Amino acid sequence: MAGAGGRGWAVLSALAGRRLAPARTRGRLELRDIHVALDPKRPPILAGIDLVVEPGQFVVVVGPSGCGKTTLLSIAAGMDSPTRGEALLDGERVAAGPKLAMVFQEHGLFPWLTAAENIEFGPKMAGVPREERRARVEAALRSVRLSAAGGRPVHELSCGMRQRVAIARALVRAPAVLRMDEPFASLDAQTRTHMHGQLQDLWMESRKSILFVTHSVGEAVRLADRIVVLSAHPGRVRREIRVDLPHPREFDSAEVGAIVKLVRAEIEDEVNRVHADDAR
Ligand SMILES: Nc1ncnc2c1ncn2[C@@H]1O[C@H](COP(=O)(O)OP(=O)(O)OP(=O)(O)O)[C@@H](O)[C@H]1O
Ligand SMILES: [Mg+2]
Repeated sequence: MAGAGGRGWAVLSALAGRRLAPARTRGRLELRDIHVALDPKRPPILAGIDLVVEPGQFVVVVGPSGCGKTTLLSIAAGMDSPTRGEALLDGERVAAGPKLAMVFQEHGLFPWLTAAENIEFGPKMAGVPREERRARVEAALRSVRLSAAGGRPVHELSCGMRQRVAIARALVRAPAVLRMDEPFASLDAQTRTHMHGQLQDLWMESRKSILFVTHSVGEAVRLADRIVVLSAHPGRVRREIRVDLPHPREFDSAEVGAIVKLVRAEIEDEVNRVHADDAR
């Protein structure tokens, strides 16, 4: 969708640029020594996580269920505070606001509103004037190739279309970093593959920094510049794997296959370790 999506993105950036600080590096997310401990009798959920997403990078976090991926994203989005450590966006502490946007596994849209009304909701709440709001919504719809569906109620849309509306709702805020928590987990394999292509095009066009969580190793290798494998109990960075393959990637290539195997082995090792610990 480089053509239509790119134009949508360019318009969005231009419109948002009026309100944002001009020309400086935007979208460097730094998580420094993040600890999260809710119960002193149990191991911390996250311990000593250091992770940097450079501007324009696509970083994917994988790891066993319950290892703290969503917790880490919430901290990166300013929705939760760590017990210790800090999350910085372009050198400043993150705080919930328009620079931050999340896309969740459950799209969380209002089903009775149209796609356009859902996307417009945030800017409306933020007091963006009507004309600018409409232009931004149109551009966001264009960037996810949903211009023709803007007037349709969300309950009439397919799962893939709803997820694209959710992405457009995040993009309309012109965030510095996009955080995505298993955004395609509920989609069928074909739609998911289609969404990978769309997200990749959007990312290549916008060069937005993305922090993305998934359980799908194939998805991780297809999309990521870097894959961060977390361990569990406590969640720590177990290993980081760079994926130095050009985009868009050939899914069935031997290089992709080799990295998939490597990441999968790393996660399997971690899951086996957790099970062995539990059995003791
Ligand atoms: N509000 C909370 N209160 C208590 N414990 C919590 C809370 N939120 C998360 N946890 C615990 O923190 C740990 C990490 O949860 P989190 O949802 O971040 O994991 P995850 O890696 O995203 O898991 P999944 O892959 O299943 O989505 C889990 O053990 C969970 O039970
Ligand atoms: Mg989660």
